[in-house]
Amino acid sequence: MSRGLFISLEGPDGCGKTTQAQALGQELRQQGKAVIFTREPGGTALGEVIRDMLLSYRHTNMSPRAEMLLYAASRAQHVEEVILPHLRAGTFVICDRFIDSSLVYQGLGLEIPIADVYNVNLVAAQACLPDLTVVFKVSVASACARLQAKQAATASGPDRIEARGMEYITKVSAGYSQLAAMFPKRIVEVDAERDPSSITRDIIEKIHALERGVRA
Ligand code: TYD
Repeated sequence: MSRGLFISLEGPDGCGKTTQAQALGQELRQQGKAVIFTREPGGTALGEVIRDMLLSYRHTNMSPRAEMLLYAASRAQHVEEVILPHLRAGTFVICDRFIDSSLVYQGLGLEIPIADVYNVNLVAAQACLPDLTVVFKVSVASACARLQAKQAATASGPDRIEARGMEYITKVSAGYSQLAAMFPKRIVEVDAERDPSSITRDIIEKIHALERGVRA
């Protein structure tokens, strides 16, 4: 049995990737593929506890390195418990955020040397990197508008990371383009300001191309 493909979805808060993940999963299942959808931080019972520590306001004095290591700890459990077993069983794994979120949010965003963030995360993830990473590109203005709409719809305020505001989102958005240039084989950027169905089609085509390359 061939290994499943590992696809991560990335982008600044409010880029629309979570809605796309559902559409992608549905499309791939219709094509007869076994697919799981999972997310970070979280994806396991331990990961959800860590998620709560990271996103709540209980630890507003969390140091950048403690934050980076907590994301990595959630990832370590997620890879061991969920991602690797599914990939070995031949299942497609679609993950809402993975290692690149740490490189951008903690590395470029909080100015921890990116090589340190990368190395810690390679250890955490057992060097399991996505086969394809799709970065959703949106303007900072649309990201902020979508984020506000989501918060209004769920009657919730910003979480601890979202509360860092526009300057941080701007840094994060620019960071993703820097990463795409660093890892051109793995990371593709898609224009996420288009209608959702054409974004799904675009990503499905990229997945098919990858399958032909990987499994030819
Ligand atoms: P979430 O509500 O899942 O945001 P989104 O729907 O945008 O994915 O919250 C996750 C937050 O954690 C988000 O602000 C990005 C941040 N994050 C990091 O800072 N580093 C990481 O490694 C990961 C996985 C997420």
